[in-house]
Amino acid sequence: MDNGKQNNFRPRYRARIKATGSFTPPDVLTNADLERMVDTSDEWITTRTGIKERRIASKEMSGVDMSVKAVEIALSDAGWAPEDVQLLIVGTVTPDYRLPSNSCVIQERMGLVNAGTMDIAAACAGFIHGLAIASAFIESGQLERIVVVGVEKLSSITNYKDRGTCILFGDGAGATAVERTEEDRGVLASFLKSDGRLGKLLWIPVGGTVAPYQEAMRNGGINNGEDCLAMNGSEVFKHAVRQMGDAALNVIKQANMTTEDINLVVPHQANIRIIEAVTKRLGVPDDRVFINIEKYGNTSSASVPLALDEARRSGRIKDGDNVLMIAFGGGLTWAAALVNW
Ligand code: UT7
Repeated sequence: MDNGKQNNFRPRYRARIKATGSFTPPDVLTNADLERMVDTSDEWITTRTGIKERRIASKEMSGVDMSVKAVEIALSDAGWAPEDVQLLIVGTVTPDYRLPSNSCVIQERMGLVNAGTMDIAAACAGFIHGLAIASAFIESGQLERIVVVGVEKLSSITNYKDRGTCILFGDGAGATAVERTEEDRGVLASFLKSDGRLGKLLWIPVGGTVAPYQEAMRNGGINNGEDCLAMNGSEVFKHAVRQMGDAALNVIKQANMTTEDINLVVPHQANIRIIEAVTKRLGVPDDRVFINIEKYGNTSSASVPLALDEARRSGRIKDGDNVLMIAFGGGLTWAAALVNW
């Protein structure tokens, strides 16, 4: 974790990402579809965000359903049986139920009988938070095999009457199998940070205990999507560019590297202009940045592990590569991890 200084501590164990998996639902929502729903255009969405289409889960398909498919692929690739998993960490802000947690439901569905479980509500930075926690458990020698998932059904909390947000979000899941190694590879550095003072720049006003859903319904109903994501886009944009850049530099410094040592940046896919601004500041050329935002939009917690899985399967990540992950989202939260693959 971040200590603000160069990290010369070399732990006996490191957390290595042994395998990845992902799943996106088959139904596609295109910019042309959105043109028929709100006052927008393919041209505006493409130039302002880089998004062309996103995947939307059917009413019957839940976040757990998507996670199970992603985890099955990761476990099979890792050669792990369900009972091998010692901890399941799930980043999500769109759980199937308020209780039990997604991680408990996934555990039951997949027979992860030996696993402890936890959900992380760090929005788009949720997966990297999970990876940092997994890494800490492994470095401390307590655990050997951990599954980290990022999953969202953002369509369930998107206001499809608000053109400022509905063009952005999509559904999906990504999973990683994280294993203990004694080699000097894996998660070399991580960084987690939040600023709760800025929480209402990106939030859901109704549905928690302060403004319960039932109370809002009694007081005249939910007429303006108050139970959906509300965002001050331009403010979030500014913070994202600054904090993602700082987080990246932090982990690069912790690992005693420079940006030239980074083989691939796998950023949170929120907006192509944010990615370009951050990587330009870091001095990383475009061919070392992985982008799939055009196909999926912003999938919050699922964004980084989904991109990681696609990058690995398409040969963009090779053994020994230094992979930099960075994310930023509601909370506000942000995080980075530097992994030697
Ligand atoms: O993953 C969590 C973190 N989230 C993010 O990182 C998202 C960060 N924010 C963004 O990506 C961008 O702020 C947006 C894509 C949401 C918006 O882009 P922007 O360049 O910041 O636009 P804006 O909100 O400043 O709006 C500019 C104009 C406004 O019109 P006026 O007031 O100038 O006449 C908006 O009403 O664009 C208008 N606008 C749209 N026009 C067509 C906003 N949304 C749309 C739309 N289609 N969908």
